[in-house]
Amino acid sequence: MIASELAGQTATKPHYYQLLSALHAHLRPSNYIEIGVYKGESLNLALGSDVVVGVDPAPIIQVDVGKARVFEMTSDDFFAKMDLGQIFAGRPIDFAFIDGLHLFEYTLRDFFNVQKHSARSSVVAAHDCYAWDEVTSSRERVTDFWTGDVWRMIPALQQLQPGLEVRTVDVHPTGLCLITNLDPDFNVDQALFDATVEQYMNTRLPSTPEGRAQVCNLVACDWPRIVESLPRRN
Ligand SMILES: C[S@@+](CC[C@H](N)C(=O)[O-])C[C@H]1O[C@@H](n2cnc3c(N)ncnc32)[C@H](O)[C@@H]1O
Repeated sequence: MIASELAGQTATKPHYYQLLSALHAHLRPSNYIEIGVYKGESLNLALGSDVVVGVDPAPIIQVDVGKARVFEMTSDDFFAKMDLGQIFAGRPIDFAFIDGLHLFEYTLRDFFNVQKHSARSSVVAAHDCYAWDEVTSSRERVTDFWTGDVWRMIPALQQLQPGLEVRTVDVHPTGLCLITNLDPDFNVDQALFDATVEQYMNTRLPSTPEGRAQVCNLVACDWPRIVESLPRRN
């Protein structure tokens, strides 16, 4: 899928792989990190980048991931133990996709860990932010199809770092959140982080489609508008 195809989509929702693919073609990131690799299908879309990194404690790779380096560990361990300067050859992370453990405090921490190693113009995508209902977004997985409570990351992130630009593009099946205007010098206070997680832990998913759209700042998958909202790169 290329960006021009994405631009023509209106009647049916594109799949998030299509949007990821268009973002790779547009951003041409020199490096890419993916948290949560699974079969490697989204990692496979990144193979045009010079440095491609996947992090997953239990990947089941079934497609070609070429030169990608897959670290078989949790994202928390990866950021705590690995030498990111060496892995990314001293460059900031250009493009990241967060799709690991689907509990919002993990996703939130993944974001802050990525941001620390990024640049102002970097782009972070996060999966599953447009939740369907209480059952599929519960913290305990009871259904095959499951988003977890990743949706809670969005209001929590907006509260912790209001300068971020956060919107969820309405792609199939559960949206792709794009986060820009990063600040690599931003330091989230641990006590404030913990208090914010506690604050959002028990908030209920809005019951109406409008409420669910509002809480994740849902925007249409309108490619020209998406491009307009992305950081300009040289
Ligand atoms: C939804 S799948 C990823 C799908 C893939 N990104 C795609 O779009 O094709 C989630 C993956 O996250 C991994 N995962 C679970 N806990 C994790 C953690 N703490 N850190 C990183 N990855 C984790 C799981 O092993 C699983 O393979």
